Amino acid sequence: MDTIKYTLTEDQMPEFWYNIQADLPAPMPPVLHPGTGQPITPKDLEPLFPTQLIEQEVSQQRWIEIPDQVQSIYRQWRPTPLYRARRLEKALDTPAKIYYKYEGVSPAGSHKPNTAIPQAYYNKIAGVKRLITETGAGQWGSSLSLAGAFFGLEVVVYMVKVSYHQKPYRRAFMESYGARVIASPSNETEAGRNILKQYPDSNGSLGIAISEAVEVAVQDEQTKYALGSVLNHVLLHQTVIGIEALAQLEMAGDYPDIIVGCTGGGSNFAGIAFPFMSAKLKGDRDIKFVAVEPAACPTLTKGKYTYDFGDTAHLTPLVKMHTLGSSFVPQGFHAGGLRYHGMAPLLSHVVDLGLISAKAYGQLDCFAAGLTFARAEGILPAPEANHAVKGAIDEALRCKEEGASKTILFNLCGHGHFDMQAYMDYQAGLLRDTEYSSDEIAMALAGLPVISQ
Ligand SMILES: Cc1ncc(COP(=O)(O)O)c(C=O)c1O
Repeated sequence: MDTIKYTLTEDQMPEFWYNIQADLPAPMPPVLHPGTGQPITPKDLEPLFPTQLIEQEVSQQRWIEIPDQVQSIYRQWRPTPLYRARRLEKALDTPAKIYYKYEGVSPAGSHKPNTAIPQAYYNKIAGVKRLITETGAGQWGSSLSLAGAFFGLEVVVYMVKVSYHQKPYRRAFMESYGARVIASPSNETEAGRNILKQYPDSNGSLGIAISEAVEVAVQDEQTKYALGSVLNHVLLHQTVIGIEALAQLEMAGDYPDIIVGCTGGGSNFAGIAFPFMSAKLKGDRDIKFVAVEPAACPTLTKGKYTYDFGDTAHLTPLVKMHTLGSSFVPQGFHAGGLRYHGMAPLLSHVVDLGLISAKAYGQLDCFAAGLTFARAEGILPAPEANHAVKGAIDEALRCKEEGASKTILFNLCGHGHFDMQAYMDYQAGLLRDTEYSSDEIAMALAGLPVISQ
């Protein structure tokens, strides 16, 4: 029988997250205080995050236990299935074997609840009453709203304005879980008002929405901030994806030569890649890791690896990452979750160590790949996930050209059921690709902070 789906039972779900920091050949550059330029201390982060998340942020421990209460909620949808894309392989007429890990089976429709649940849990046990966050595509906002409902926490979401208008059903979904959703930039914060004064028609960006959420969080002791990507603890929580995939590929008697994922802030890519990267770091396996990003927000392929702020209003600490500059506001293309000027510092560090290659694609090619995938496999991917689909299809076509029977694994990080307007616009020929000239990128980078390191 040609197996399609490799599934684990609930008692085979991982009990630990994998922390790649324990295995890296060089430590990450320190996070700097924006005022002093000196490395920050865990205390500096206390207004924003509960202690246990701060401990995870700086931990060098290889395996970190997943609390029982988190595991019992994870079991609502985990372990997620690993599929062998047999019909896609046939459609592409490739000798490559293609596997995808499907995270769209979570209640929110993506990988984001993998971190929303533990973040809400650690806040709850720390006595926090309210969580504030930003969302781009609405996947993260939905996930935190879901986690808030499970743990009895109030949730407020600053949703990037372009997505707020593109995706009214995502907003209604968050509100169904009990969250309050505000279009960003808003008049509710100083950061939002400043942007609106300068750019009354601003589409918003993740950098702006983060500024608004952080500004509100630091003003109230019972409120904390939650971030859906970028931070070390978020990448850590997502490693359940790769740990499960390792066991599922073992069931299939296979091992990946190539691992592909899309990158917005870097969390779903790290989630699938890091548990496999430990074998590469030990010299046991030679795996090619491909991070795929949008050409309209080309952080890894055209950004600079340097210190920058995580938000537009410069309220966050300075982190060393691949960045297009915190003032960079990408066009309103239809993969809201990938419209972030920076990249996870941990992933940036791993890219800098030469362990990952990056590629950028325009949205038209990505939607075309998404439809090829949907027609072969039946699942309609989120526009963000289409970037990974496109990357995997290109690798499979390269195998066809070379006559190489390689094994490709990619992360299908979410479904596109709330993204039908995007698909309708694509099919109606209304979407365009945006690329930035080197002058435009240089202008955005000119505003980078000067750090005397
Ligand atoms: C479905 C989906 N994929 C990917 C991303 C990008 O985030 P990350 O790179 O952290 O996985 C998002 C962000 O909102 C998303 O909603």
